[in-house]
Amino acid sequence: MGSVAVIGAQWGDEGKGKIVDFLCRSADWAVRFQGGNNAGHTLVVNGVKTKLNLVPSGILNESTRCLIGAGVVIDPLVLREETARLRENGVAVSPERLVLDREAQLILPYHVELDQAREEKKGDKKIGTTGRGIGPAIEDRARRTGVRLAELLKLSELKPHLEENVEHANLYLKHVVGSSRVVDFNLVWKLVCEAAAEFAPYIGNGSLLLHTALSRGARVVFEGAQGSMLDQTFGALPYVTSSNTVSGAICTGAGIGPRHIGHVLGVAKAYCTRVGEGPFPTELHDELGERIRSSGGEFGTVTGRPRRCGWFDAVAMRRAVRLSGMDSLAITKLDVLSGLEKVKICTRYRLDGRALDDMPALSADLYRVQAEYLELDGWQGDIGAARSLEELPLEARALLEAIAEQSGCPVAMAGVGAEREAGFYAGAAGYLRSFTAEGR
Ligand code: IMP
Ligand code: MG
Repeated sequence: MGSVAVIGAQWGDEGKGKIVDFLCRSADWAVRFQGGNNAGHTLVVNGVKTKLNLVPSGILNESTRCLIGAGVVIDPLVLREETARLRENGVAVSPERLVLDREAQLILPYHVELDQAREEKKGDKKIGTTGRGIGPAIEDRARRTGVRLAELLKLSELKPHLEENVEHANLYLKHVVGSSRVVDFNLVWKLVCEAAAEFAPYIGNGSLLLHTALSRGARVVFEGAQGSMLDQTFGALPYVTSSNTVSGAICTGAGIGPRHIGHVLGVAKAYCTRVGEGPFPTELHDELGERIRSSGGEFGTVTGRPRRCGWFDAVAMRRAVRLSGMDSLAITKLDVLSGLEKVKICTRYRLDGRALDDMPALSADLYRVQAEYLELDGWQGDIGAARSLEELPLEARALLEAIAEQSGCPVAMAGVGAEREAGFYAGAAGYLRSFTAEGR
């Protein structure tokens, strides 16, 4: 039938997990294609919270097969913990349910050490990474020194390769970063051998499996991580993640051609948040920001850090819609804005008095832009029980309409709470409806 790409339209944490979980109820495959365990989804299913960092959320749906694609960097320690936790919660994790692409690369302890040591050294100038080794592992991939999962199947050849990597990491830690951290090769080797023993049966040819499935009419959900504004190429440097987060990354990270992407669904909150350092033009530094943080539970799933909160940013959204060719939007956490007198959305940036046609390329400029806002009336009372546009207060509907108009993209879904059921289709949802309606 086709595929839906779920892409974060802001700075991550847009609530993609819940949307993916919903779509996966009809999906044959759920696929992660970029990033790593810097991502974090908290899903609430039957009142039980499940936290996932690496395994696609589709694992919670019994008839969905999951693929961790070639574009993902995999920390075997995290994978082991996560699959063990899932099994404890009664979720079947087996090679039939979970495939690890043979071309995906590993995050190893030296990547984590390098990530953290570099951030420590940068002090005030830190990026605010999640400290999970994502950046260094992706650097190794680009430098052609990374370790592919397929190498776990040939341990004797992997050993000298790893010895060299650990030696190089130790030299770099000591002489470039000036850190006292030292990586013990024996520990790395033990970990790699254990990972090989445990995960060898899971390693497969993801691209081929997916291509075959799509050619036979399977339904596939591509599960994006992080957000468009954190894209390694298009985000404001250096405050970005190390992978491409836009829809184009699906092709290189899952190993399929663009024509297999049926529908690009952008996910955004009805406001904005950002975790880590970097420019954030609509940030609220007052008690309103505080209020959104507490009512929205805006604390990082991975690091527990409080998220910075601000108004919905349509300038960033127009950029995200363009970068990924978004067909429709899911607007989440509308309920968090209930009870406010007024709500705002940013419609334009000015820099030195001049109106801009896009976000500036440099962080130094993005820090200085002035956001111009459209102010709308807020609404009172709980909207968590709404299951259609008609059940929303007029003011909340007006906000969704303004978001669609200002973003240049129709709204197809709205979310009004954390629970699986707390959301509904809102208008332009033709593709999504047929993707899910004919589902099992
Ligand atoms: P890294 O991806 O750990 O290298 O972190 C780089 C930047 O991306 C930091 O600002 C992180 O806070 C941010 N980041 C990484 N993953 C996520 C995510 O899943 N949600 C929100 N921010 C993220
Ligand atoms: Mg998250």
